[in-house]
Amino acid sequence: MIMNYFGLLLLFHVASSVQHSLRYFLTATNGVPGFPEFIGAATVDEVQVGYCDSNIKTAKPRQDWIRRLIEEDPKHLEWYSDNKWIKTVFLFFFNFSCLSGPSILQRMNGCEWDDETGDIKGFNQYGFNGEDFLAVDLNTLTWTAPKSQAVVIKLLWDEDKANLEFNKNYCTNQCPNWLKNYVHHGRSFLQRTESPSVSLLQKTPASVVTCHATGFYPDRAEIFWRKDGEEIHEGVEKGEILMNNDGTFQMSAELNISSIQPGGWRRYDCVFQLSGAEDDVIVTLDKSVIQIPVAGGVAAFLLLGVAVIVAVFWLRKRNGEETMYFLHDRI
Ligand SMILES: *[C@@H]1O[C@H](CO)[C@@H](O)[C@H](O)[C@H]1NC(C)=O
Ligand SMILES: *[C@@H]1O[C@H](CO)[C@@H](O)[C@H](O)[C@H]1NC(C)=O
Repeated sequence: MIMNYFGLLLLFHVASSVQHSLRYFLTATNGVPGFPEFIGAATVDEVQVGYCDSNIKTAKPRQDWIRRLIEEDPKHLEWYSDNKWIKTVFLFFFNFSCLSGPSILQRMNGCEWDDETGDIKGFNQYGFNGEDFLAVDLNTLTWTAPKSQAVVIKLLWDEDKANLEFNKNYCTNQCPNWLKNYVHHGRSFLQRTESPSVSLLQKTPASVVTCHATGFYPDRAEIFWRKDGEEIHEGVEKGEILMNNDGTFQMSAELNISSIQPGGWRRYDCVFQLSGAEDDVIVTLDKSVIQIPVAGGVAAFLLLGVAVIVAVFWLRKRNGEETMYFLHDRI
């Protein structure tokens, strides 16, 4: 029990030390039906802030605070809106692969910044057909190639010292500066808390009871079942945190009720804790509050990904003016 208690504290401590991120996700496809040739997305602290694809042509801000920032600073207006750059790299990759069918090239670049320690971490990595393909190593200033097919590209790109220096500068200066600016502008949005609605769901009287919390923000949250006020693990199955369409999150924890006597139900409760929120939400296991789940449920994305693109593939992200320069002029 003590272990659990400290484990939980540690979890919350780590989760609330404020790690920010700016990520750009680019996806280029070749011959994938119904999919734009090129998709770009940007996220700040896992929140999608912009989107662009080869059908809509113009990059669109996805959050009001980003829209305001763009209005204040016209430089930001020049979101990338064509796909020349990615096409070139795509052809390049395609040339080196022996595949003839539909192909997908993805890139994720960006940076993370810890606003307590000041630590900065930059990254720029490519995936090809869903596999990690190339990533820049900022310590050795070389490219790493986990797949043998990528080694030939690695060797070529390793020769391009100017580009490697550009990557380093981008990851350690430019990107963190943009990130700090975004976080500053988006502060009230990114640091808000939204409480969820928490309900108990059960398909049939013999099924597990699902404690379902939806509509909360941020994604730093815990849900668990207690018996007589103590957290229990046996017969409990926790789900992953999922993102709702509106940018809030949902998660659930199932309780196997097969061994619980009818008179013992009220000894159990479900607890939802949100980082930054004052009060936990507690729902007592009680037949009268149980609902039957609505068929279809709420559309949600795995938190691993951020947008539809991401759920389908491997990367995520989008961008602003300086990165546009980066995209078009550098690999
Ligand atoms: C693809 O390969 C051909 C033949 O090796 C070469 O001529 C062409 O320049 C390459 N294209 C790209 C975009 O690398
Ligand atoms: C619930 O627990 C019982 C007994 O421990 C087990 O037989 C049953 O398969 C469990 N039900 C589910 C849905 O996990």
